[in-house]
Amino acid sequence: MRVVLLGPPGAGKGTQAQALSALWGIPQIASGDLLRAVVREDSELGREAASYMDRGQLVPDEFVLKLIAERFRKKDAHCGFILDGFPRNVSQAEALAAGLERAGLKLDKVVAVTLPDEEVVKRISGRRTCKNCAAMYHVVFEPSAKPGVCDKCGGELYQREDDAEETVRERIKVYDAMTLPLLDYYERLGLLAQVDGMGRPDEVEKRILSAVNGAGAQSAQS
Ligand code: AP5
Repeated sequence: MRVVLLGPPGAGKGTQAQALSALWGIPQIASGDLLRAVVREDSELGREAASYMDRGQLVPDEFVLKLIAERFRKKDAHCGFILDGFPRNVSQAEALAAGLERAGLKLDKVVAVTLPDEEVVKRISGRRTCKNCAAMYHVVFEPSAKPGVCDKCGGELYQREDDAEETVRERIKVYDAMTLPLLDYYERLGLLAQVDGMGRPDEVEKRILSAVNGAGAQSAQS
């Protein structure tokens, strides 16, 4: 199964990708996580990436495409993947399609999770992520048992640098300008399903599963 999750910041792409990854036994490939790993290395490239991310802007395509290509080469991605946050614009989508075609592969489904802007801001301002295992929490909707501590591994929970309200509003603008056109792009290819992101995570997951079902969700590793 090769699935793309689209949606504005905070729509729940990461939450849903983690759940689907566990259910289907295929990796979540999150461009934001790959970029944050480079930023943590504190290299010249990492500082360059951070300069875009901290302003809520997209990191240049060639940088992101290189990271994604490296990630695809890892063995676990050969049986399928859930792409989270990539592609982010039409040129990234075209590069993805060309890469898959060269490998004789294609996408099974593109799911766009929709969410109103005010809900986006609410969700992102309360998000906390584990430094150690990347598990996701929300201080109101999905709190950890002990504040600031991950239930799964005991790691420290932190708030992302780009989750300040002003930056989130910029990220929403960038999403509308750069990523929304992808909905038409994938609609024309007959791959798009739109799913309402409101409601509990398990309710949203059910909607995604039913959207993907026609594309063979029962046998995800192929
Ligand atoms: P990225 O890391 O991809 O961030 P994003 O797309 O803005 O999305 P988020 O991770 O903020 O949200 P999400 O939809 O995953 O929601 P989540 O599940 O966490 O990108 C960050 C930056 O990196 C970009 O701005 C850009 O600079 C750069 N970048 C990344 N990819 C790039 C690319 N391809 N090209 C160029 N640049 C790129 O949920 C949010 C919160 O809500 C959590 O607290 C969660 O617990 C909670 N929650 C989730 N679902 C629910 C629910 N159903 N009900 C209540 N709460 C919920």
